[in-house]
Amino acid sequence: MSEPVINERERQAALSLTKNQVPIREWWFKDNALLTFAFNTSSATVPEGERFIVRAAADAKKLITDPELKKQADILIHEETAHAQMHDAYNGYLDAQGFPATKHVQETKVLLLFFERVFSLKMRLVTCMIIEHFTNTYSKQVLDIGVLEGEDTDERMDRVWSWHCIEEMEHRSTAVDLYRALGGGYFLRVSIGAFVSVAFFVAHVRCLVDFMTAKKLFWNGTIWKKGLPYLLGKKGVYYLVLKYWLTYFKPGFHPTDIPIENRFNKQLHHYHIEDELVGYFNVPVQ
Ligand SMILES: [Fe+2]
Ligand SMILES: [Fe+2]
Repeated sequence: MSEPVINERERQAALSLTKNQVPIREWWFKDNALLTFAFNTSSATVPEGERFIVRAAADAKKLITDPELKKQADILIHEETAHAQMHDAYNGYLDAQGFPATKHVQETKVLLLFFERVFSLKMRLVTCMIIEHFTNTYSKQVLDIGVLEGEDTDERMDRVWSWHCIEEMEHRSTAVDLYRALGGGYFLRVSIGAFVSVAFFVAHVRCLVDFMTAKKLFWNGTIWKKGLPYLLGKKGVYYLVLKYWLTYFKPGFHPTDIPIENRFNKQLHHYHIEDELVGYFNVPVQ
């Protein structure tokens, strides 16, 4: 692709860290353990969800005729495949750092394969829609509030998450549009959406607790005191995810109802950078 990389300075800073084999520090997010736990938890719970989305979108694409929607399905499939590839490398690095990431990737896989076996295609698309709703609002937090901005966050991780969030924003409507094209209705969308929300929440919290326990930090009061206001506060990680969760259940909901301004003008996805991002994790563990 020939489009320029806008934030070339950040790119060079990240590449220089990799070239010099600088480890990604354990608490890469502003040295705040709870915030780092939150992002690392998302990394462990996300790649199997992405592969689930890829398979559902590919199956739905076979049944539609609208060429524009088929193109959007291809973009979704390409982007989620690339994300899963990057998160596999990220999760391998987490394993090496002592976070049991692969264990949770496998647990999520078992759950989602079960859903895939028992759900109809429309129910699978609803599962995609609610996962995309979470990633969309998570992305809004990153792109509009700028939680990753600042010199005290590892540049590589800023780029990894910013890239993921930009692409989530880009394809956020596709699962809903596929569902509508196949005649999906309100009742199925909200009932399965509520069920999968709870399953997703439980999987996420289980992983977060497991990570904290593995690092023997779950009962550390300082971590919670320092991290919790940040985690749930307006500049935190989960604020908009929680704020917008119920918006999904409104009749006629469409992801574009939630505006994302990308206030930091992040534009680092206009060439295929996944291999570069995977390379960030090819550094020694501290
Ligand atoms: Fe993704
Ligand atoms: Fe997505």
